[in-house]
Amino acid sequence: MKSAGTPIAMLTAYDYTSARILDGAGIDVILVGDSASNVMAGHETTLPITLDQMIYHAQCVVRGVERALVVVDLPFGSYQGNSREALVSAIRVMKESGAHAVKLEGGRAICPTVERLIDAGIPVMGHLGLTPQSIYRFGTYKVRARGEEEARILEEDTAMLQEAGVFALVLEKIPSSLGGRVSHVLEIPTIGIGAGPSCDGQVLVTHDALGLTTDFNPRFVRRYAQLDTLIAGSVKTFVEDVRSHRFPSDDESY
Ligand code: KIV
Repeated sequence: MKSAGTPIAMLTAYDYTSARILDGAGIDVILVGDSASNVMAGHETTLPITLDQMIYHAQCVVRGVERALVVVDLPFGSYQGNSREALVSAIRVMKESGAHAVKLEGGRAICPTVERLIDAGIPVMGHLGLTPQSIYRFGTYKVRARGEEEARILEEDTAMLQEAGVFALVLEKIPSSLGGRVSHVLEIPTIGIGAGPSCDGQVLVTHDALGLTTDFNPRFVRRYAQLDTLIAGSVKTFVEDVRSHRFPSDDESY
């Protein structure tokens, strides 16, 4: 798609029903993101979600997908220790869920791990810029790599990850100009989230894009629907119908 100049569309899913809808609507890539920790489990960060929980979400998603590529985040603590630990975690994801690839956060430090996973036959997507698993090191969710030095390190990391064999790279919350420069230089596709329009694809957390989350409003989110309002309105009507004996009707009864 990159060489054809066709932008890649990626969204997150964590369950069968949503995955089926996304897949049927033509999404290219479904990410079983560790953002499940936030939007499914209600945690403040992505750190608490476990490998078993990610595998459960991935299994549900895979059952709903016929054509999209399914990528699963390796969660915090399941791959940083060493490349063997990462391999064991990635093999569990691939074997137990049936997903097609895994995603890892990090730059040069994880290149040996990326190589080991690829040697074992596991496709790896990278993730640079704002890497939420390192939030306590960064201390904030602000835009990354605004300064020259951090931008230089990020550019080097992208080249090293490509060399190590990642098939695509998520770039999160970096200046648009840097996103464009990296996307132009790399052969592999970049998928941006808050990384500007020149990335080779774009990703959003589905709950943000569909307006299910209301308390998270970064500039990079575009709301394609207001499902929170729609759902709340529907639930209110259901409650009223039940209270007033309007539901069920004769037609809805046996
Ligand atoms: O976990 C996730 O949803 C992600 C996206 C924000 C890229 O990593």
